[in-house]
Amino acid sequence: MQHSMQSLEGKTAFITGGASGIGLGIAKAAHKEGMNIVIADLRQTAIDEALGCFSDRAMGIKLDVSDRGAYRAAADEAAAKFGNIHLLVNNAGIGGAHAPLWEVSTKDTDFALRVNILGVLNGIQEIVPRMLAHGEGGFVVSTASKAALIPVPNCGLYNLTKQAVIGIMETLRCDLPEGYSAAVLCPGPFKSSLGTSGREVQEELLGEKLPPMAPPVQKDGGDAPPPFAFPADIDFSRIERTIEEAGERVIRGIKNNDMYILTHSEFKAGYKERTEAILRAFPDEEPYDGFAKVFGFLARNPVFGQQKQVPAFPGHGK
Ligand SMILES: NC(=O)c1ccc[n+]([C@@H]2O[C@H](COP(=O)([O-])OP(=O)(O)OC[C@H]3O[C@@H](n4cnc5c(N)ncnc54)[C@H](O)[C@@H]3O)[C@@H](O)[C@H]2O)c1
Repeated sequence: MQHSMQSLEGKTAFITGGASGIGLGIAKAAHKEGMNIVIADLRQTAIDEALGCFSDRAMGIKLDVSDRGAYRAAADEAAAKFGNIHLLVNNAGIGGAHAPLWEVSTKDTDFALRVNILGVLNGIQEIVPRMLAHGEGGFVVSTASKAALIPVPNCGLYNLTKQAVIGIMETLRCDLPEGYSAAVLCPGPFKSSLGTSGREVQEELLGEKLPPMAPPVQKDGGDAPPPFAFPADIDFSRIERTIEEAGERVIRGIKNNDMYILTHSEFKAGYKERTEAILRAFPDEEPYDGFAKVFGFLARNPVFGQQKQVPAFPGHGK
């Protein structure tokens, strides 16, 4: 599938959760490409601070991505300033409660689904029809996580909402017409304010005051363990990377028309183990060739053939 986003100059990007972290990194990289930038975020103070990074080719809009009516108004406001939107980045997200799924509250469950899944769907359902209507082509990127590729224990809500984002984006990519395309970003660790922003977002959207973050205590009630110290030979900047790098990787992914934008090759072996486990779980049976004649579209999907090998990112080669 071809798309028309190899050149981004003069086009407009609508970036949710763009006021900090990975979203801000994407906004910076898109701005460097000559794009107009719309930062749509719930936290007004963070928007005001983020706007300091840009020229007058940027605007901020306070938006709760899970509010459909507000999303429409935000898209109208962006269009009134910059005209057609060509790049939608569904990046706003929250971390979700840390607990096994049977222990998380209904409130935490609804909140995670609302922001991390409904927020992405709202972006697609509000902005994609506008992109298709202007006919100038476009691209949608949504931020999932590497937690969607290899589940993180005790983070069920986060894992499942991010797996949903992968499913949404794979299907979107199948369904978009020529000139349009979509990718899912599955980042490994990047410096961001996800821990604190999630609390602010929860306080504002659910109208509650959360207790201050308690210092860690051992399960038996004893003193907290000493803070974890990394071994002296660990270069932590190679693990938790900069938001600027995240942004540059996303722009590269858009230009290459990647379907999956991945950031840390450290997860490749773990993902391979998952894929191999699934392959082993297929019963060792001979497939019936009549199946493909009747339901070939269920059994195979050519969309996977579109993903080319991605070269090393500058500075990360072997
Ligand atoms: N930082 C990482 O290591 C990492 C790794 C994997 C995935 N992610 C994902 O990257 C995305 C960006 O997170 P980040 O780590 O840069 O954190 P961040 O806190 O710096 O950015 C998230 C932004 O989303 C905004 N937001 C949250 N809920 C919103 C809502 N309902 N409406 C509008 N804006 C809302 C927040 O205000 C915040 O500015 C998230 O989807 C997160 O799950 C991050």
